[in-house]
Amino acid sequence: MSLPKKLFIKTYGCQMNVYDSERMSEALGGEGYVPTDRPEEADMILLNTCHIREKAAEKVYSELGRMRGLKEARPDLKIGVAGCVAQAEGEEIMRRQPLVDLVVGPQSYHRLPQMEARLRAGERALDTDFPEEDKFAHLGKRPKAARGPTAFLTVQEGCDKFCAFCVVPYTRGAEVSRPAARIIAEARELVERGVREITLLGQNVNAYHGHEGGLAGLIGALARIDGLERLRYTTSHPNDMDDALIAAHGEEAKLMPYLHLPVQSGSDRVLKAMNRKHTAEGYLRLIERIRAARPDILLSGDFIVGFPGETEEDFEATMALVRSVRYGQCYSFKYSTRPGTPAAERAQVGEAEKDNRLQRLQALLTQQQRALQDEMVGRDVSVLFERSGREPGQMVGKSDHLHSVHVAGEGIARGDLRRVRITASGTNSLAGTLL
Ligand code: SAH
Ligand code: SF4
Ligand code: F3S
Repeated sequence: MSLPKKLFIKTYGCQMNVYDSERMSEALGGEGYVPTDRPEEADMILLNTCHIREKAAEKVYSELGRMRGLKEARPDLKIGVAGCVAQAEGEEIMRRQPLVDLVVGPQSYHRLPQMEARLRAGERALDTDFPEEDKFAHLGKRPKAARGPTAFLTVQEGCDKFCAFCVVPYTRGAEVSRPAARIIAEARELVERGVREITLLGQNVNAYHGHEGGLAGLIGALARIDGLERLRYTTSHPNDMDDALIAAHGEEAKLMPYLHLPVQSGSDRVLKAMNRKHTAEGYLRLIERIRAARPDILLSGDFIVGFPGETEEDFEATMALVRSVRYGQCYSFKYSTRPGTPAAERAQVGEAEKDNRLQRLQALLTQQQRALQDEMVGRDVSVLFERSGREPGQMVGKSDHLHSVHVAGEGIARGDLRRVRITASGTNSLAGTLL
């Protein structure tokens, strides 16, 4: 028997790419590849890429530049580009980067085994189709190897919302929900392998419609799996938060009190130009209803500053919205022009103005994040332990509210779910003692 070949995957972008990388690695497992975390010993390198902002996309080209040396040293090395840049610019990559052997889009990676066979025959392979068949149905069962206590599970893909700034509807295609029975079977397999917390993923996960009652119905069905202790979901769109999902936050004990609900801007004028189809007031009312169902829920969000046409007054409206929500966690970005999107054609805000607004927004968000984290001190929380900490005997896990918690304690194992009293709050994490 020949030695197994080694596969190195580098993942950029969102959690859906993290999930896809795992599935790609499993798909190539059947072709005799084992994972490695050392690119210099790999027989195949896959870059699973992100196209969301210009900087993200540029990373791919600088990474490919760095790989030239590896390929020269080992001409048999195969280099592949997967993910959203592959989808958006795959043909150009093939044309301009002779060292790339393979380009595969996010909707066709179940065909990797056939593509790999073509590479072995000395060809190059490109597949950026949006095939009719469901890739997940072709990926087969997931291997039985034990794994960590948390996992991602993609339940919905693609997006039909066409926000004026965003490439996702083009790179991931139309919105599709996976059948509930397959998701439940996959969740059971994950739990058999040691998983205790699952985060359901989708570009608009709350648009999920593959189960009666939508995402809330799916969450209810998954919550009945013994051994599965925690459920989360991301990313949700404000317009798809239905009554049942809001109610689930109050009623379903396994659904964690954390919700990522991006709003992008606090100005109605900008929201309209972004094609978000909701107002700032509508978003605030929605949050009131969610907090009525689950008062201690921690909210997080995404913001874009410097969207074309954003004035100082619009930006102040964003700051006001943030002040009135109080976020526990947030991601904020300077608007980045994306080819092919409607906003790319409009008059742009200057770079200095964008920098200035981003700094002011981030200062406010950091202050809120820290204040809400500090408020946890003295409270008792549940922590799912994931890994050992830097100090001997120390373990690190996540609280229900997704705060990192460091605990010193002999006898805590990876995968344990324990009650912890929070004693201190640091820059990015909490510390506590076992109860
Ligand atoms: N589906 C999710 C988010 C997808 S992209 C949603 O609707 O909220 C993740 C985040 O990247 C977005 O929420 C947005 O804040 C940011 N983003 C998307 N396109 C961008 C662009 N062109 N420039 C800057 N940030 C962008
Ligand atoms: Fe992009 Fe808007 Fe769809 Fe989110 S909802 S993925 S921001 S187009
Ligand atoms: Fe990036 Fe594609 Fe995710 S563009 S954010 S990897 S859906």
